[in-house]
Amino acid sequence: HSEREKPGDTPPPPVTTMSDGRSLVYLVTGGCGFLGRHLLGVTLEKEKRVCEIRLFDKVVDPRLTEQSTDGVQVTVLQGDITDYLSVREAVRGADVVFHSASLVDVWHKVSPAVIHAVNVTGTENVIQACVELGVQYLVYTSSMEVVGPNVKGDPFIRGNEETPYNIAHAMPYPRSKAEAERIVVRANGTEVSGGKTLHTCSLRPTGIYGEEHQLMKDFYDKSVQAGGRLILGVPKNTEHGRVYAGNVAWMHLLAARGLMEEPQTVGGQAYFCYDDSPYKSYEDFNLQFLSAFGFSQVHIPLVALWFLAVLNDVLRWVLRPVWQWAPLLNRYTLAVACTSFTVSSDKARRHFRYTPLFSWEECRARTQAWVDTFPGLGAKKDS
Ligand SMILES: *[C@@H]1O[C@H](CO)[C@@H](O)[C@H](O)[C@H]1NC(C)=O
Ligand SMILES: *[C@@H]1O[C@H](CO)[C@@H](O)[C@H](O)[C@H]1NC(C)=O
Repeated sequence: HSEREKPGDTPPPPVTTMSDGRSLVYLVTGGCGFLGRHLLGVTLEKEKRVCEIRLFDKVVDPRLTEQSTDGVQVTVLQGDITDYLSVREAVRGADVVFHSASLVDVWHKVSPAVIHAVNVTGTENVIQACVELGVQYLVYTSSMEVVGPNVKGDPFIRGNEETPYNIAHAMPYPRSKAEAERIVVRANGTEVSGGKTLHTCSLRPTGIYGEEHQLMKDFYDKSVQAGGRLILGVPKNTEHGRVYAGNVAWMHLLAARGLMEEPQTVGGQAYFCYDDSPYKSYEDFNLQFLSAFGFSQVHIPLVALWFLAVLNDVLRWVLRPVWQWAPLLNRYTLAVACTSFTVSSDKARRHFRYTPLFSWEECRARTQAWVDTFPGLGAKKDS
């Protein structure tokens, strides 16, 4: 464990001298999840001022502590983001908090009350702990879904943070993220214990992909279950922004540096998060990684997909008392899949010099290497 003094005992050294030695403690809530692991990897590789990375999660993977190096201690803390005391223990002594723990659910798997508890109460807990323990820097992992797409299907093409859009949330998940983001942004400038100031910002990634991405695996599993058939139906000209997890992680690190070095610019801001991954529909994007499996493609008309989505919604509602059924296709996911929604990350470049750490070629190669470990159709049939 680090020997660092508790905040309030002595003022932290000015940021400009921190490059001399490792002294910062970073906390990642949701640290054992998909994005948390990428954040760990990129921090170990790129952030030379950090002496401890704490991963706080509900379901922990203690093996991640094996990634500790001579200079950096990786610690894993089990706790519940909705339980203030466990959040406070995790936050104690941290310099920067990356609040990435989030319940992503657009399939009606989880009740709205639970989503709210995790995503809104959880965020309030993190802020309260920062205030009580004198933590000054908080980076929140938000989502492009705080803006859209809306269920009307209004397109948003290469928009930025100022682009007008008819924001209309129909699902508990985007609503909870939007509320949490408002809370985080509003907390910028709050006085924390010790008389210092809390600086916050919010990052809004588009659809994140990369190694260990569960949705990509789900798309693959669904195709295997369908006998090696990919069911496709989204209009070909739909464009979605997809961003590699390693670049999302990188933007988190740069945003934290921005908060430390230029809080007047970065504090209280929200940033879209995107990289050089090509604009494609979700289907086409996922397809390019699955071509080696030789799945056949079944194209169904959009109106049939829409009918299936409505049917799924009705069935889910009818079955609800006896079975928590959460099909991937519902009216919301179909509307999202059929609505072009792409963003530009220019504001992040201007405010804290964000450019992607990994080129599209690297992102593709890393993701493909992981997809190549899937068993394949033959293996599945034999088992
Ligand atoms: C936000 O809500 C989701 C779904 O309920 C949950 O899985 C996730 O853990 C929540 N986020 C946090 C920070 O707890
Ligand atoms: C965030 O707080 C900092 C420091 O108090 C301040 O300079 C900045 O203007 C605030 N940002 C916003 C958007 O109000």
